[in-house]
Amino acid sequence: MCGIFGYMGPKQASPILVEGLRKLEYRGYDSSGIAIKNGDFKIYKKIGKVAELQSILPKQIPGNVGIAHTRWATHGGVTDPNAHPHLSENGKVVIVHNGIIENARIFRSILTRKGVVFHSETDSEVISHILEYELARDNSPTKALRRTLSKLVGTWGLCAIFLEHDVMVCARNGSPLIIGQGDGETFVSSDPHALSTHTQRVVFMEDGDIATLTHDNITMSNIHGHSLDTDVTILEEEWEEAVLGDFEHYMLKEIYEQPDALRQCINGRFDRVRGNGRLGGLKLTPLELSKLPHVRLLGCGTANHAAEIGGFLIESLARIPSFAHISSEFRTNEPVINPNALHFAVSQSGETADTLSAVKEILLKGGKVHGVINVVGSSIARLCGQGVYIHSGPEQAVASTKAFSNMVTALTIFAIQVGRSRTLSKEKGKEIIDNLQQLPHLIEEYLEHQGPIMEAVDLVKHAKCVLFLGRGISAPVAKEGALKLMEVAYIPCLAYPAGEMKHGPIALLEEGSPVIFVVPNDHVKEKSRSAIHECRARGAKIILIHEAGDDISGEGDINIPIPQVNNYLSPMLSVIPLQLIAYHTALALGCDVDRPRNLAKSVTVE
Ligand code: G6P
Repeated sequence: MCGIFGYMGPKQASPILVEGLRKLEYRGYDSSGIAIKNGDFKIYKKIGKVAELQSILPKQIPGNVGIAHTRWATHGGVTDPNAHPHLSENGKVVIVHNGIIENARIFRSILTRKGVVFHSETDSEVISHILEYELARDNSPTKALRRTLSKLVGTWGLCAIFLEHDVMVCARNGSPLIIGQGDGETFVSSDPHALSTHTQRVVFMEDGDIATLTHDNITMSNIHGHSLDTDVTILEEEWEEAVLGDFEHYMLKEIYEQPDALRQCINGRFDRVRGNGRLGGLKLTPLELSKLPHVRLLGCGTANHAAEIGGFLIESLARIPSFAHISSEFRTNEPVINPNALHFAVSQSGETADTLSAVKEILLKGGKVHGVINVVGSSIARLCGQGVYIHSGPEQAVASTKAFSNMVTALTIFAIQVGRSRTLSKEKGKEIIDNLQQLPHLIEEYLEHQGPIMEAVDLVKHAKCVLFLGRGISAPVAKEGALKLMEVAYIPCLAYPAGEMKHGPIALLEEGSPVIFVVPNDHVKEKSRSAIHECRARGAKIILIHEAGDDISGEGDINIPIPQVNNYLSPMLSVIPLQLIAYHTALALGCDVDRPRNLAKSVTVE
């Protein structure tokens, strides 16, 4: 997704900005650019990777103040002129912007009539021109920004620098922005982890905030002109910089990190004696838990699949009706919020705009939301103010793998904890906890003996469409497998609950069509067996994910065994061969595995 990095201080800005952009790269983007103040503004923009921007930069660009951006196109195609930063008409203001300006079209025509020449098709460019116009009124960058923002409708993480003023102004409304305070230098970034090598002292901007930075001072105010305290906090969790090590790609590295990530997630979170989870972040009393009318879980993409599994587990273990919702649908479908219900917002980045909006909607209607989040201090985590961090560590590949496993794991612990305060017995709680503690070993065991993954890759890599089927707890796993293959290998994939296959998808099957079945040894296995037969009878080739030694093995044309596993925990194992199939298929097709086209790691626009 779009990223912002800015610097003011004694050092040369250019290398710091480029390094900042590199740290934002993992979020996904299609072009990048930087602007350095030096007499006038030196602006360089390029489509493609940050490395391509670097290739057009002069060896040295003197200047101690600059802003930089990675763009993920929303308005206007992927072109050099559409990349940010955007310069104002008279060259006095330069801006970078994340978000969408909904009324940009009106301002484009007003400004065009006034003789302003636009150099891009973006919605963002209007901001630079309006800001310059407003600056001419009283020569105060902060006031000019305030007046500019009062005209705009939309969302922004916004940063501007000025030719005639030694300040950088920043504003946030719906798109994250964090200020960093160093010694005699200040930074701004849309991602705290891009700041952590420079400083741990940060100010998380809230919606409506405006920050005015000099090299040694941060002044906070809001859009209405009121001063605010500069609330400096220390970054709680400093992730070590993700390095590839011996791996060729981050996606493969992160698949292999799953056992350790899972250990991080469960560490210290069980009360074995009582067969209970010990998540301090579940801020409901036993009485409130006993009266819960229902549970709702929200997420997008992979997080939504994890939420579906979480919902299944909460309903099964805690006997409370539980539903997972796609965040974007939930918010706009006028949901009825019950203040006594339990809501979970599930998100790796903690910045996904659709999920953030859904959380705001719930809070507005008096509901309570718990976060299930990876990135500490992210917008959703702070907004919820309660919940659990999943502790996956940094996830760099756009396609989520280890965060999925840890979201499911955290929700499993929640399910045990909510269940224990209701009907779940101590023995059953203990049994699941013991099995959860074994899970990292089982994943390691599987990663050592992966089965015929490459045969599966040969079957799917040239397929017109791949059908993924699973039942019960494995239905969302099938969806996750389909999403992974589609995201990284660009193969059309369809995922269905196996029982629903005969109500439509069966029409797709012809001789040789690949169908991937996820069939752990649970109470719906026999029903899945029937679906396998129905597919085979129509010429489909079956790739079967099954438990080792189970009597269903052999039903597939390609059989991929996973270790035997507790029924409630099978997703964390059965998803791994699907992740590997996606990874190796993408490689076989020459796709950019870690940075798939058009996708962004964290989508901060609705
Ligand atoms: C984007 C990514 C997906 C991710 C989804 C939700 O669409 O491409 O891989 O699952 O956002 O992200 P979140 O950070 O909220 O988990």
